[in-house]
Amino acid sequence: MAYASKIYISIFTTATIIQEVMEIISLKSVIALLLLLSVICFGFCTAIDTMTSTRFIEDPETLVSNGSAFKLGFFSLADSTNRYVGIWYSTPSLSTVIWVANRDKPLNDSSGLVTISEDGNLLVMNGQKEIFWSSNVSTAAPNSSAQLLDSGNLVLRDNSGRITWESIQHPSHSFLPKMKISTNTHTGEKVVLTSWKSPSDPSIGSFSLGMNPLNIPQAFVWNGSHPYWRSGPWNGQIFIGMPDMNSVYLNGFQVVDDKEGSVYATFTMLNSSILLYYVLTPQGTLAETYREYEKEEWRVYWRSNKSECDVYGTCGAFGICNSGNSPICCCLRGYKPKYTEEWSRGNWTSGCVRKTPLQCERTNSSGQQGKIDGFFRLTTVKVPDYADWSLAHEDGCGEECLKNCSCIAYSYYSGIGCMSWSGSLIDLQKFTKGGADLYIRLAHSELDKKRDMKVIISVTIVIGTIAIAICTYFLWRWIGRHAVKEKSKEILPSDRGDAYQNYDMNMLGDNVNRVKLEELPLLDFEKLVAATNNFHEANKLGQGGFGPVYRGNLPGGQEIAVKRLSRASAQGQEEFMNEMIVISKIQHRNLVRLLGFCIEGDEKLLIYEYMPNKSLDVFLFDPLKRESLDWRRRFSIIEGIGRGLLYLHRDSRLRIIHRDLKASNILLDEDLNAKISDFGMARIFGSNQDQANTKRVVGTYGYMSPEYAMGGQFSEKSDVFSFGVLLLEIVSGRRNTSFQYDDQDLSLLGYAWTLWCEHNIQELIDGAIADACFQEEISRCIHVGLLCVQESAKDRPSISTVLSMLSSEIAHLPPPKQPPFLEKQIAIDTESSQPRQNESSSNQVTVTIIQGR
Ligand SMILES: *[C@@H]1O[C@H](CO)[C@@H](O)[C@H](O)[C@H]1NC(C)=O
Ligand SMILES: *[C@@H]1O[C@H](CO)[C@@H](O)[C@H](O)[C@H]1NC(C)=O
Ligand SMILES: *[C@@H]1O[C@H](CO)[C@@H](O)[C@H](O)[C@H]1NC(C)=O
Ligand SMILES: *[C@@H]1O[C@H](CO)[C@@H](O)[C@H](O)[C@H]1NC(C)=O
Ligand SMILES: *[C@@H]1O[C@H](CO)[C@@H](O)[C@H](O)[C@H]1NC(C)=O
Ligand SMILES: *[C@@H]1O[C@H](CO)[C@@H](O)[C@H](O)[C@H]1NC(C)=O
Ligand SMILES: *[C@@H]1O[C@H](CO)[C@@H](O)[C@H](O)[C@H]1NC(C)=O
Ligand SMILES: *[C@@H]1O[C@H](CO)[C@@H](O)[C@H](O)[C@H]1NC(C)=O
Ligand SMILES: *[C@@H]1O[C@H](CO)[C@@H](O)[C@H](O)[C@H]1NC(C)=O
Ligand SMILES: *[C@@H]1O[C@H](CO)[C@@H](O)[C@H](O)[C@H]1NC(C)=O
Ligand SMILES: *[C@@H]1O[C@H](CO)[C@@H](O)[C@H](O)[C@H]1NC(C)=O
Ligand SMILES: *[C@@H]1O[C@H](CO)[C@@H](O)[C@H](O)[C@H]1NC(C)=O
Repeated sequence: MAYASKIYISIFTTATIIQEVMEIISLKSVIALLLLLSVICFGFCTAIDTMTSTRFIEDPETLVSNGSAFKLGFFSLADSTNRYVGIWYSTPSLSTVIWVANRDKPLNDSSGLVTISEDGNLLVMNGQKEIFWSSNVSTAAPNSSAQLLDSGNLVLRDNSGRITWESIQHPSHSFLPKMKISTNTHTGEKVVLTSWKSPSDPSIGSFSLGMNPLNIPQAFVWNGSHPYWRSGPWNGQIFIGMPDMNSVYLNGFQVVDDKEGSVYATFTMLNSSILLYYVLTPQGTLAETYREYEKEEWRVYWRSNKSECDVYGTCGAFGICNSGNSPICCCLRGYKPKYTEEWSRGNWTSGCVRKTPLQCERTNSSGQQGKIDGFFRLTTVKVPDYADWSLAHEDGCGEECLKNCSCIAYSYYSGIGCMSWSGSLIDLQKFTKGGADLYIRLAHSELDKKRDMKVIISVTIVIGTIAIAICTYFLWRWIGRHAVKEKSKEILPSDRGDAYQNYDMNMLGDNVNRVKLEELPLLDFEKLVAATNNFHEANKLGQGGFGPVYRGNLPGGQEIAVKRLSRASAQGQEEFMNEMIVISKIQHRNLVRLLGFCIEGDEKLLIYEYMPNKSLDVFLFDPLKRESLDWRRRFSIIEGIGRGLLYLHRDSRLRIIHRDLKASNILLDEDLNAKISDFGMARIFGSNQDQANTKRVVGTYGYMSPEYAMGGQFSEKSDVFSFGVLLLEIVSGRRNTSFQYDDQDLSLLGYAWTLWCEHNIQELIDGAIADACFQEEISRCIHVGLLCVQESAKDRPSISTVLSMLSSEIAHLPPPKQPPFLEKQIAIDTESSQPRQNESSSNQVTVTIIQGR
């Protein structure tokens, strides 16, 4: 399918190219006909290259340059009977018009003539002596003559030989060798190319090509007065915004500052066996067209509109365009879309704004200092417009920029020197090769944290691993020696023993490992009463699965979360013990940590580390808080959950199936790292066990895999299913019920699947993270998510495969099969939209609720 569409696209592009070439050619072939006529004529007339007041040319006579490269005469375009006077390449079959005299005022019959007036000006007149065009120079003198040169230039000389007018100073839409496209900053005079209105109408169109000499010369195509295309600065040899200029231009191209206020671009052909010129098309494209002498066709060598990125300012201020990306526009590092909505809709013109103020700005406004700003290097880019130029050397360029708060970027390019920018950065483009290195000024906090972090993390991991290994070893020996023997008869109130025993009998049926609770610190109930201010209502964080959760402060200042089992809950007893058993066995940075427990009399309490940022659903489903989870954060949350799950499934000493993975069970620490919590329903598997059955289906509706919800079967793959739903929720930022799609009752899975089938998966992405730069990564995540929620458990990847897929270690993802539960289900479950603490984590679901496929 994709392949087919590719072919289609390439055929399509080829077709348009052919069409374009034909466009150029077709008007020539019309002219070619005319030329045939003139060739016939020339059987009788002698070829002349000069005319005088007495030797004029009448339609259809022509002037032929000495060497026969060019002709001047009357021509018509397409089906029109309008007659224009112009100059064209004279090769019979492929001639092409390069200059037109009476562009805006065609003759309507073939009575025209070109002559020299008594005052010495060139004139185009019709049979009634009406003037249609005049060279209109006041310095012309009587007895002038006009000669068509082999360069395609028509020159008007007075009888002393002084040139009073020449056509290359009044170009039409073509840029020929030796022509000068110039701008004079003193007089404001400009020589520009002007496009035709259409291929069949040579009158002045809306585009023009000229030089902008400000600071560093650049060539521009303007649409009216708006820039439409920009060459980038001239470095003495090439325009650095045209990375293919080196290879494509058969040089001789130069930009000259004549020191009299005029800057001009010109070129000469070094290789005379090639004809080459530039044409500004009616659509504003500059096309380099060439023909080898022996070859009978014109080809387009290069054009200025390779991609949408070549249109000036496509991505707005502080945006950068990369034609290889989809979508093509991104904000620069440290910037975010000004209007996120507009931006994600592909309206990029409003551009981007800075995320974090620069230190120099902050210092000014609030007096507070911070770490000094730095620069982020972008390689191979088309540098922005409006560069300032300074004398600084390569080393001094950045320093100079850093000193001046209004300097927001710099670039040093040999042949140009130090360029700096203030105000805004407009018309940036990322190339695959060529271009320049651009340094963008950013607040310290926006700079490449990743690399530092990586170093820190890897050092931490190495040190940490060693330390843990050593500690574990000693702990293990110590436990071996003392703990087992002594602890069993100490400390524990008798109650604990009972609970423990009950637990063993009731719950460990499918658990193989006996658990040593002795490894966990036991806390005094009194201490917890003090820490939570006697379980004061104000300290209540919410309602957990089997009882309320309170926030507490231990005397040392450590913050804790205390889960207190309600006395009434019988089922809670099981879950309490289960959680304690499971969680005391495991430790991982993506799993919430149990700090201790307390069993005294009727009281049963679990003590956890305190998570200041609550749970993922609090962020994800809140329209305001959602914004603070950018894509990087979300991705690291996804990875964190994945790693936690991998640990549960594979890497811990036990194999644990969580069975209740959902957004409200993902807690976030102060750095928004994800920690899986709530192991009340987790099951420990034996090492050879792959699957288990239960009559009591517990879990949260919507996150449950079909085989579990319907048949009570659970396995690693049912956790993978829940992970997939979670992943789709994280990417889309919505619960499955919070949207309408074509008035269909679709669940999140159904919606995602519909979009997938329509090749429109970007629609699913939360507007808050619709940063174009990550489009590909996000799409990949959705793809992985869909693989996780496939109906058949054996089709779903294992969590370790999922992690490899997310990190792109596995490059090629298989296409997903259709997920279950496409239609919105009639939810009668107890899942509420409140933050996790209000939720019951043991909402029981009966199989009959699940409606559709
Ligand atoms: C054409 O140019 C050649 C040399 O370039 C010269 O000898 C010849 O006289 C020219 N012919 C005309 C008609 O001007
Ligand atoms: C041609 O143009 C002239 C004026 O330029 C006008 O008088 C004449 O009627 C036109 N002829 C036709 C056939 O349109
Ligand atoms: C000729 O030039 C003068 C000024 O230089 C201008 O006013 C006049 O309109 C021009 N005539 C034509 C036919 O272009
Ligand atoms: C122009 O040519 C005519 C005839 O060829 C001659 O009489 C006249 O003097 C010439 N004028 C100038 C200014 O050379
Ligand atoms: C050129 O400018 C005109 C008027 O501003 C606008 O309507 C037109 O779309 C522009 N053309 C292109 C190709 O941008
Ligand atoms: C470039 O411009 C020409 C018209 O001048 C147009 O036909 C062609 O499709 C454009 N190419 C791209 C890649 O936009
Ligand atoms: C693009 O966004 C700007 C700024 O929000 C808005 O003014 C303009 O109307 C939008 N253009 C389109 C085509 O939506
Ligand atoms: C700093 O603030 C003062 C006034 O508050 C202002 O005049 C000055 O331009 C500011 N300087 C910079 C670099 O923004
Ligand atoms: C800072 O840069 C701006 C813009 O480039 C310039 O106008 C200003 O003079 C510079 N200030 C200093 C102190 O160099
Ligand atoms: C997360 O918690 C920390 C510590 O309470 C707080 O500083 C930070 O602002 C929170 N993050 C968000 C995004 O709310
Ligand atoms: C759909 O949303 C409801 C309400 O939030 C939730 O209970 C259910 O689990 C969700 N279903 C799926 C398939 O995500
Ligand atoms: C959720 O918990 C908060 C804080 O304890 C409480 O104010 C709110 O009423 C609870 N909501 C529900 C629906 O129980």
